[in-house]
Amino acid sequence: MGEIITQPLAAPVIQALRSIGYNSQTAIADLIDNSVDAKATKISLCFSYNEGNSSIKIIDNGIGMDEKELQTAMTVGSKDPRDKRESKELGRFGMGLKTASFSLGKRLTVVSKKASKFSIRCWDLDYVSKENEWLLYKSIPVDIELDFDEIQGDNGTIVFIDKLDRFSGYGTNNIIKSGSFFSKVNRIQKYLEMVFHVLLEENILFLGINDNMLSPWNPFLESSPRCYEGEVQHLQLNGKEVVVTPYVLPHPATFNKKEHREAGGIKGWRDQQGFYIYRENRLVSYGDWFGLFPRDAISELVRIKVDFTNEADEEWKLDVKKSTVTIPEDIKEALEAIAKYYRHISHEIMLYRTRASRSGEKVKGSLNTWELQSDDNISNYVLNRNHPVLTNILKNLDDGVKRKVNLYLKLIELGSPNNLLKTESMVKQDRQTIDENQKKTIIEYAGIIVNSGVEISLDQISESISLMNGFESIEIHTIQDIVKKEVVASVKF
Ligand SMILES: Nc1ncnc2c1ncn2[C@@H]1O[C@H](COP(=O)(O)OP(=O)(O)OP(=O)(O)O)[C@@H](O)[C@H]1O
Ligand SMILES: [Mg+2]
Repeated sequence: MGEIITQPLAAPVIQALRSIGYNSQTAIADLIDNSVDAKATKISLCFSYNEGNSSIKIIDNGIGMDEKELQTAMTVGSKDPRDKRESKELGRFGMGLKTASFSLGKRLTVVSKKASKFSIRCWDLDYVSKENEWLLYKSIPVDIELDFDEIQGDNGTIVFIDKLDRFSGYGTNNIIKSGSFFSKVNRIQKYLEMVFHVLLEENILFLGINDNMLSPWNPFLESSPRCYEGEVQHLQLNGKEVVVTPYVLPHPATFNKKEHREAGGIKGWRDQQGFYIYRENRLVSYGDWFGLFPRDAISELVRIKVDFTNEADEEWKLDVKKSTVTIPEDIKEALEAIAKYYRHISHEIMLYRTRASRSGEKVKGSLNTWELQSDDNISNYVLNRNHPVLTNILKNLDDGVKRKVNLYLKLIELGSPNNLLKTESMVKQDRQTIDENQKKTIIEYAGIIVNSGVEISLDQISESISLMNGFESIEIHTIQDIVKKEVVASVKF
């Protein structure tokens, strides 16, 4: 059998590598990982806006690289992902420096200082594309101004990225305005405060962006005495330990407005519930039940910390971007059981609040207009039919009107934004299939309208359902089929 060495072409490979799916937040976090791996204790990020050519600069006081190490570092695929990494090391694939930088811009310049000696390398993708060769500059392009003194000690590294076509529209007709440039920077700051919160809390890492010092955002509000920390569990995964620490946050009503917003984090309370997966104290995935449960409002108090070490990267299917993992089958059941238990506690806290009557013993039943009905997985807000005002009104109505009022109340329940939001979160998980809950809601909704005696066609009913929040992704003929089969067939006209 003959064989022939077949080198990949530089231009297409580089273009493809730019698109492996980083966003600016995950890209910057991956670059910070490198500085942390280099034992940096101080990392300064500098985002500089300039309509023509904005830039991103990361300066660290880590161990730095000599000429040979820098040459290797700039190579695409500089280390074998299968090699054992040092304990606590965040790198894995030998790609991040290049792929993360190129997802932001077309030019990556690295100046590194080791034992007081400087080394320089620079990738300019315009040049690589033009020549279609892996040609790496050994000096700084003339149009880049870098102050080497920004590395203050004997060791350290400057990573400089410009020609930011992806980050800020360099070279396109859509150069972003300074306002949106800096609001992106703001979002990056928030993201880093979450992802690196453990290191920031331990005060071993000082991280700054444009002269703002980052302060840790702790998802579990560990400093709050009102927060409930569950029992720590140690799971075994192929002989490697996974540590699970469940937390149940206090009821939202116990926060003031500012605290409440802050505790909501980047995505807000409901979407921040779920597992928080840490690899070597660095958050890789957050606010996700991995399809095991819906993200519903009454479970929003649960955040479960899961820690694994870099030895288990393979089992977790860690990706190059360090932003997604898959729960290993071996521990899925255990995690599901833990989550289920703490979701229950969250339900209890939320339920108690909703049910609690503030007016003491004299009033029969609660004065809440809405109450929460829940079983293991499903929970719905229903109107409190025993509300004294409502019972008083109904008492004075004749049966026909009473029936219509009740039907209308049922429609309000089905259309309650809370109930629909919950359904929406299920739709997001799997847009292709229609789940039993959605089907139930469709049948119930259509049934009530059909039975109300109001003149309305099958198409109108289906259309009104398809417009409901959370049902947009379901094709209208699917809804029509269900209504026809399950509702209309069972009604005698
Ligand atoms: N700021 C830095 N200081 C010192 N060395 C660095 C720095 N950034 C990168 N390196 C060196 O360059 C190498 C390549 O970095 P790169 O991010 O491409 O891969 P990695 O960190 O090994 O793995 P991953 O692709 O998972 O990030 C690193 O292994 C490290 O040796
Ligand atoms: Mg790296």
